[in-house]
Amino acid sequence: MLFSSKVVAVHIVALVLTTIVYRLSPFHPLWRFPGPVINRITSLYNAYKTYTGERHLYVDELHRRYGRIVRIGPDALSINSFSAVSQVYSSTNAMTKGRAYTYGGAHGSGLFFMKSRAEHSKRRKIWAPAFAQSNLPTFRQAIHRRTFQLMQVIQERCDTRGVVNLGEAIGHWTYDIMGDVTFGASSQVELLENGDSEGLIRSGQLATTAFEIIGEVPLLFSILWYFPVTKKMRALEERAGRWMTARQNAPDQDKQNDIASFLLVKDGSKPKLTHADLRVDSLFAIQAGSDTPAGVLTLMFFFLIKDSQVYDALRNELDMAFPDATVPLNMHALGQLEYLSAFMTESLRLGAPFHGFPRITPNEGAFLDEWFVPGGITVSVPGWSQHIDEDNFYPEPLAFRPQRWLPGGLGTGSRANKAAIMAFSSGPYSCLGKQFAMEEITISLVRIVLTYDLEFAPEFDADSFYAGALNVRTPVFKRPLNVVAKRRCAQPGEAQRYI
Ligand code: HEM
Repeated sequence: MLFSSKVVAVHIVALVLTTIVYRLSPFHPLWRFPGPVINRITSLYNAYKTYTGERHLYVDELHRRYGRIVRIGPDALSINSFSAVSQVYSSTNAMTKGRAYTYGGAHGSGLFFMKSRAEHSKRRKIWAPAFAQSNLPTFRQAIHRRTFQLMQVIQERCDTRGVVNLGEAIGHWTYDIMGDVTFGASSQVELLENGDSEGLIRSGQLATTAFEIIGEVPLLFSILWYFPVTKKMRALEERAGRWMTARQNAPDQDKQNDIASFLLVKDGSKPKLTHADLRVDSLFAIQAGSDTPAGVLTLMFFFLIKDSQVYDALRNELDMAFPDATVPLNMHALGQLEYLSAFMTESLRLGAPFHGFPRITPNEGAFLDEWFVPGGITVSVPGWSQHIDEDNFYPEPLAFRPQRWLPGGLGTGSRANKAAIMAFSSGPYSCLGKQFAMEEITISLVRIVLTYDLEFAPEFDADSFYAGALNVRTPVFKRPLNVVAKRRCAQPGEAQRYI
């Protein structure tokens, strides 16, 4: 027994050593690409950086040290090149999703996790009509109704000094909107009214973190699915399944044009998606549609309040455009406002710090920018690095300057390459909710600025807050965005709720 255990141990050690030697050797197809030794050997360090929420910073640091192309894993390259974006993500030959999208032990399949282009495109055709222009008015009602509620909640949650955790209120607002948009009138999601005593938002973030970390070592997923580390993911998926069942049993008048009504389509008499598929897809709808917009909006308010010149410029433009601050808002009118538009674009640049969405090179390999990359390799263009690259944004790429998007930019020689903003990604796997997200973020930003004067709470430390603003596929915050909110105008008219 002891002898056979020793033999097994020796075999394992030999296998590990051989793998390490091979990954470092000139026989490995990625041998000629620079990168730290640890990353050439294993993805575990990347997994750790994902866990800490600093992966985008780490990848950027590697590019500064090693150049435009870096070996970030045994079989993975990061390519910090604007010209590689279209080849990897958006051209007609865009690459397929990488192994990191494996959603191991789940019984159903979901749009986001589908790696085959053909299967993904079939599922995307089911989802897409929900986000078509013709259906947006339905979703718009949820935005306006919930924003109306948010204005009340901000006031109600202020303590005696007028301090409120704005980031938390925004998180509850996006979650409730996604409940409405996904499950219609039968939605059981009410965080603005009831708070989040069950920790749904935190569980969602932990599930996303677990998915991202395990995505670095996808082979482990099927095993870890049955361990406590993925418990949150399983619990949330089960919860989404119960919400979906409630939605299916709801009265007919409550089933109008929500995302569920598109996912529940039938092929003849047979549903196109199984209940297991519906669980995965509806959970993803809530997660994708709530966490990321909430994070981007939270960072937007941070940038706004931090710089009084920016705040004054935006508030003045909005006050001039809407002398009666309680009037209904619509995207057409807001689209005419130059400074608002510059502010939104700059917020997407610094507010969505993704590390790069992994794709797989085709069997025959591909030329990416000036490099030939062999087939079957994971490649990504790091969004955050592109967003702060001096070739795209100059000067002061790390500073929040809406002015860079206005005529004249930041002076002679300044650059602002809008096409380099990768916040919603591009191509066949790009964000389906982009237009909806832009609308909800813009409406709430404008409504809050018109309704409240905001400043940081007395004890708020802006540097610590920003240092704790991390990213695990979605922005996450170590510290609360505590602000003092002083009412400027009355609650918008009742009609506002439904516009
Ligand atoms: C500021 C807010 C948002 C940002 C920055 C954002 C960003 C993204 C990105 C980068 C992807 C692609 C990820 C990848 O390839 O791995 C994505 C996918 C997706 N997003 Fe968003 N998103 C936002 C809001 C929303 C909202 C509000 C919804 C729904 C209402 C939504 C629905 C989706 C869907 C369904 C996909 C999957 C598309 C597919 O695989 O075909 N997103 N999003």
